[in-house]
Amino acid sequence: MRISQSDFAARRQQLMDQMTPGSVAVIPSAAEVPRNRDVEYPFRQDSDFYYLTGFNEPDALLLLIPGRNEGQVVMFCRDRDPEMEIWNGYRAGPEGACNEYGADQAYPVAELDERMDGLLEGKARIYYSMGTRETLDGQVRDWLNSIRKKARLGAVAPAEIVMLDHLLHEMRLFKSAQEIEVMREAGRISAEAHVRAMKACNSGMKEYQLEAEISHHFAMNGCRLPAYSSIVGGGDNACVLHYTENRDELKNGDLVLIDAGCELDYYAGDITRTFPVSGLFSPEQKAIYELVLKSQLACIEAIRPGVPWIRIHDLSVEILTQGLMDLGLLKGELEGLIESGAYKAFYMHRIGHWLGMDVHDVGDYKVDGDWRPLEPGMVLTVEPGIYISPQNEHVDEKWRGIGIRIEDDVLVTADGYEILSAGVPKSVAEIEQLMRQ
Ligand code: GLY
Ligand code: MN
Ligand code: MN
Repeated sequence: MRISQSDFAARRQQLMDQMTPGSVAVIPSAAEVPRNRDVEYPFRQDSDFYYLTGFNEPDALLLLIPGRNEGQVVMFCRDRDPEMEIWNGYRAGPEGACNEYGADQAYPVAELDERMDGLLEGKARIYYSMGTRETLDGQVRDWLNSIRKKARLGAVAPAEIVMLDHLLHEMRLFKSAQEIEVMREAGRISAEAHVRAMKACNSGMKEYQLEAEISHHFAMNGCRLPAYSSIVGGGDNACVLHYTENRDELKNGDLVLIDAGCELDYYAGDITRTFPVSGLFSPEQKAIYELVLKSQLACIEAIRPGVPWIRIHDLSVEILTQGLMDLGLLKGELEGLIESGAYKAFYMHRIGHWLGMDVHDVGDYKVDGDWRPLEPGMVLTVEPGIYISPQNEHVDEKWRGIGIRIEDDVLVTADGYEILSAGVPKSVAEIEQLMRQ
């Protein structure tokens, strides 16, 4: 565990420092999700909850109550249960929540309803992200109604519910030194996995077999699960942006696009590389590849504090559109093709996204209506792509079915950037050389 309990405590304090006096924040854990009879999906803690606790169990609720004399950090969690623990493993229980996870007070989650009235009563404001947990939304409403019913006895129900997201997600957007250390490691492991896949690739293999090379490397390095379902798309499948079936055969003459990143201690890597199954690019593949790479390198080079995030996207649009014109794939004037969105037939997504505990991480992209400038400590992906649909009859047949994306993870530093995923080659020469080995 690289994020220490003192880091988690500092995050809770930082959040409480921003809350208004007389308020309470309510942050739920994730729930277990059934996959089929008696089987659950692998449990993954909610990122917000984990960010504030490091606590990895379902059925828990964190309350932060700044200024509360009896303790500011209150946790509800599953009680110890010797029989259930024989079947499903250790539970921290309320005692563990206090001793191991820094709660000032902790109670069995079964006591939630009987205790919440008392904890919320008299507070002016609740910070709670309404609308994502149906059951909890209903419970919050019931707790409020129960306090309101006691109004004639002098009970005062909270008057305001405020979304917690903004305060908390602004914190998560800026990565601490410890978080950056974990993300460097996630980038390194993810990059190694891509190198492994490139080396293993041969025609006749199935896409899932390349996926297995990636998953193997993740798991062998302590990342049992990827940060998102790995995309391994050979040939036309590379033009399906979120292709995850990964079951077709890889063929000589085709490219294969791999978009895969590990999750290490709750932090994501997110890397895409596209390379020829045979190890050699065809002239058309090379032309498109070098255009995507040119735009990716220019976008990364433009990253530094103060540059608006949208400027990086716009730069990718300019370079890709000009390149598509030069190759004869788009006809017209640069400005007009950009204005009309004609380039979107080939480049239909944005340049990237924030990266962190969630692969599409939290944090506003606009502040007060304006695209926000980059600041040190932000991590973003840079992932331009060109996807020429196999059905696109407006272009010469030789281009059809080429799908290329190149994606790296980039930290904004005080005076520029650091690429966290640099360990996997991306020039045509480097890729062809690696695949010859
Ligand atoms: N792997 C998802 C993405 O690149 O956004
Ligand atoms: Mn990706
Ligand atoms: Mn991405």
